[in-house]
Amino acid sequence: MLVNEQHFRTIWPNFDGDRALVQVIDQTKLPHVFEIANITNLQEMLHAIKTMQVRGAPLIGAAAAYGIALALVDSCTDAQLSHAASALIAARPTAVNLKWAVDRMLARLLPLPLQDRLHGAWAEAAAICDEDVLLNQAIAKHGLEIIRLQSENKPRTINILTHCNAGWLATVDFGTALAPIYAAHDAGIHIHVWVGETRPRNQGASLTSWELGQHGVPHTVISDNAGGHLMMQGQVDMVIVGADRVTAKGDVCNKIGTYLKALAAYHGDVAGVRIPFYAAVPSPTIDWTIEDGVPDIEIEERHADELAWMSGKLANGAIASVNILPSDTQVANPAFDVTPAKFVTGIITEQGVYAPDQLRGVLGRGAYA
Ligand code: MRU
Repeated sequence: MLVNEQHFRTIWPNFDGDRALVQVIDQTKLPHVFEIANITNLQEMLHAIKTMQVRGAPLIGAAAAYGIALALVDSCTDAQLSHAASALIAARPTAVNLKWAVDRMLARLLPLPLQDRLHGAWAEAAAICDEDVLLNQAIAKHGLEIIRLQSENKPRTINILTHCNAGWLATVDFGTALAPIYAAHDAGIHIHVWVGETRPRNQGASLTSWELGQHGVPHTVISDNAGGHLMMQGQVDMVIVGADRVTAKGDVCNKIGTYLKALAAYHGDVAGVRIPFYAAVPSPTIDWTIEDGVPDIEIEERHADELAWMSGKLANGAIASVNILPSDTQVANPAFDVTPAKFVTGIITEQGVYAPDQLRGVLGRGAYA
């Protein structure tokens, strides 16, 4: 997508110097500073994933794939591969894309002779990235049709609520939940996006609003607590979110707070008319080994500092962090929740839009499973 009119992906290899490296857009600096970070080895990739310089389920899958390549620069042994794979999978446990990408890298590399592994790793990581872009473009096409249908039924601006950041920053390019939104805007459909700020890391306020602004999509940031109120007031026509893991029966695990939005949408507007709730999900995000998300998806518990400290720009332009909690306050910080399939109207995939219970029939162990 475009940043100040220049096209960027979120991650790419750089082979120009003596030693190959990977470059990423550093998401911890946005929206105030646009900065490219250089990642030169496995430890730096682990650090980038853990500190969320790169984040979003599809992007951390791509980052893990490049992490394997970086790990093999000096040693291509089975031991090195297996060390890198375990460290990367443990870096962020909830998003299944990370394990999916690492497993795919191992399946490609382990059968190769040692001398071919490094080249194979760069090639496979690049293929994972290119495929992510294609999947998201297909999601854009199918999601666009749902938005178009809404706009044909309601000849006015369509209000879409989203949560967290499932835009191009969360993927290699185009995004998942935001891909249909960009497509609708580009197709001339009048849309407006309600962007939940997404405490504690503020991915909505800092990243989604920045992305939508770069693309010229009309949007308004709201506090996380405002979504239900706006639905009740008839100011939300549909909800589209991303996902970090979806189970075989269609339970959707996504950023903490998603479940509350799904509940409110299910209850509907003041007249009780249900508001459609969609998750945009490329197939590497589906975990076919799990049926029930609530008991079986490991929810990442993140550091208390994420709630305690808020960072932003001071009036004098300096970037600073401030503490908003009394000292020694106990904090719980689950990073994701699970929305049971019954609250999900449809799952927007690269193959089409399906009710959760149709997912297995259409996509089960499909091309990208
Ligand atoms: O913790 P994050 O920011 O890596 O969380 C992932 C997300 O960005 C969201 O949950 C998103 O909606 C799904 S990723 C396309």
